Amino acid sequence: MLKHKLPFCLLLFWAIPSAALETPDNVEVCAACHGVEAPISYPTVPTIHGLPRAVLDNALFDFRATIRPCRNPDCGAGIECPDIDFCAIAVELGDEQIAALAGWYASREYVAANEPFDDVLAARGARLHAESCESCHSDGGSSSIDQATILCGQRKAYLRIALKDFRAQRRVAVAEMDALIRAFSDEELTALVEFYASPRQASQ
Ligand code: HEC
Ligand code: HEC
Repeated sequence: MLKHKLPFCLLLFWAIPSAALETPDNVEVCAACHGVEAPISYPTVPTIHGLPRAVLDNALFDFRATIRPCRNPDCGAGIECPDIDFCAIAVELGDEQIAALAGWYASREYVAANEPFDDVLAARGARLHAESCESCHSDGGSSSIDQATILCGQRKAYLRIALKDFRAQRRVAVAEMDALIRAFSDEELTALVEFYASPRQASQ
């Protein structure tokens, strides 16, 4: 089958020793949406456990400065959300709290969400990823030690929102990536999301 010949969206698990890090005081508030451990249960909430520290730092600084769109979980249809306003919390975070939270979450284990995906679109996404994204999001978007971040096994609904934010220039990362994403059609963005949801290819 075609999918066996494609680059895999591999899963790597990084268990970084965390004994030296104290659990930040306010982590329970974060856990209401992001879960105590990954993966989390709300489709539009990203998994943040095990992401690179710099990415977590940047995200929290950007939310605080309101230069990145902030959202609460998208709930309804049987999913009940906590009555907490993430964006109100984010603008109040101090530098030390951001450093403590980013360091702690980076030391946790990343666990990929296991969501269904479309084989044909994932195959197209694999090619797009190899051509345009692998140079920074290495190992099929699964490495937490490169300059970018983990995309493989991130929640699909969240990735769709993130890619659309970059394409609409509501959110910025690096000029090279932002330009690549701006040039993609809706179908190409969908194909990339299906590829990042396809970790099971790795074990087949
Ligand atoms: C009410 C739910 C809720 C709570 C509580 C919450 N978050 Fe979030 N968080 C979200 C949602 C939704 C997003 C996605 C925003 C978007 O659409 O980009 C998010 C995104 C993030 C991101 C960006 C991740 C990425 O990959 O770019 C980080 C980092 C983050 N949250 C950290 C925290 C921390 C730390 C806390 C506790 C202080 C916290 N969050 C509390 C809902 C929540
Ligand atoms: C030149 C390096 C580079 C290239 C090429 C690149 N990226 Fe990125 N990407 C980054 C960096 C760095 C970040 C983290 C930005 C931050 O810290 O806010 C990122 C973040 C992201 C995010 C946000 C993840 C999150 O958790 O919110 C998505 C989605 C993404 N990239 C998708 C892609 C896709 C799809 C491609 C290929 C079309 C691509 N990137 C190509 C460097 C790159």
